[in-house]
Amino acid sequence: MTQVDLADWGARRRRRFAPDRWGQLVCRAVWDDTADMRSFFLTPQDGSRIEHEPGQFMTFRIDTADGPVERCYTIASSAARDGGIEISVKRQAGLGARALHDTLVPGVVIEALGPSGRFGPAFVSGTAYALMAAGSGITPMLSILRTAADRGMNPDIVLMQVVAAPTDLVATAEIDVLSRRLQRLVHLPIITRGPGGVRPDADLLNRIIPDLADRTVLCCGPQSFMEMVRTTAHAAGVPADRYGEESFDFSSPLPTAAAGTDTPSRTVTFARTGRSFECAETSTILSALKEAGLPLPSSCARGMCGTCKTFKHAGEVAMAHMGGIRQREIDRGFILPCVSRPLTDIVLDC
Ligand code: FES
Repeated sequence: MTQVDLADWGARRRRRFAPDRWGQLVCRAVWDDTADMRSFFLTPQDGSRIEHEPGQFMTFRIDTADGPVERCYTIASSAARDGGIEISVKRQAGLGARALHDTLVPGVVIEALGPSGRFGPAFVSGTAYALMAAGSGITPMLSILRTAADRGMNPDIVLMQVVAAPTDLVATAEIDVLSRRLQRLVHLPIITRGPGGVRPDADLLNRIIPDLADRTVLCCGPQSFMEMVRTTAHAAGVPADRYGEESFDFSSPLPTAAAGTDTPSRTVTFARTGRSFECAETSTILSALKEAGLPLPSSCARGMCGTCKTFKHAGEVAMAHMGGIRQREIDRGFILPCVSRPLTDIVLDC
């Protein structure tokens, strides 16, 4: 991260921030939403505009005491405003979050990739929404509400916001103001701890949103919360194409097929350094690479963020991604090693 002079109001060049290449954002403002949630307003250093849909995220390369790490944060700001983006980060969310809180101040430049992701009303459409947020899962919901208000829309939205304590509620005053413009918005804050604390479970959901089955459900929060909402929505009859979720809680790793002794393995070679390692056909290239102790930037390990995107010179892979790569990049020869399993020997541009 480097420091720049914020006195420059900047030329108004309106080129689009390239979503598939690492670029540089300047931190312009920082403020605290709660005791442990801090927001950052960032603009592209080259004056370009960031085009995004509400619900999308960006990946940030963050300098930490242990070296650079890549982390994904959902854009909280309105998609109708392209002057910059706002992200809101909980300090306890880990190493990258702590480093952002400690070092990202106005004037500091940070590398970013995106926007990416297929979460939000642009990708999971509907006529009425149930937005289910727990903790920092409120950030994509704020982008959805802010965008709807900025675009003069009046969608039918129920927003359930689950937090541990009233002091953890983010943007309450702003949501009140937004609800004067979004007159069909119903805000349901749920406090889970302390006297009168409520457990967010299927019973509660069905009670407070009796027409859940008729809504498109968008959910963001810890894995356990999303599992509960997904199961309840499914049981209520919400079809898969009216349910979407987003989480950057990667504490539960994706299941991987175990490699047996007779599982064929393939050789993966780095074209630039000449280093190579063996990767079982049942393993992802990223996990084999980590086992071999070789570094490759990665974040989500789920094919969502695009951080590990690498050019493949030769070989065939089976790749099941979640929107972290565009078809035209695949056609040009790029892969996401975190979700690619080798079908032949592979040569990567590393
Ligand atoms: S690490 Fe996110 S797409 Fe590979």
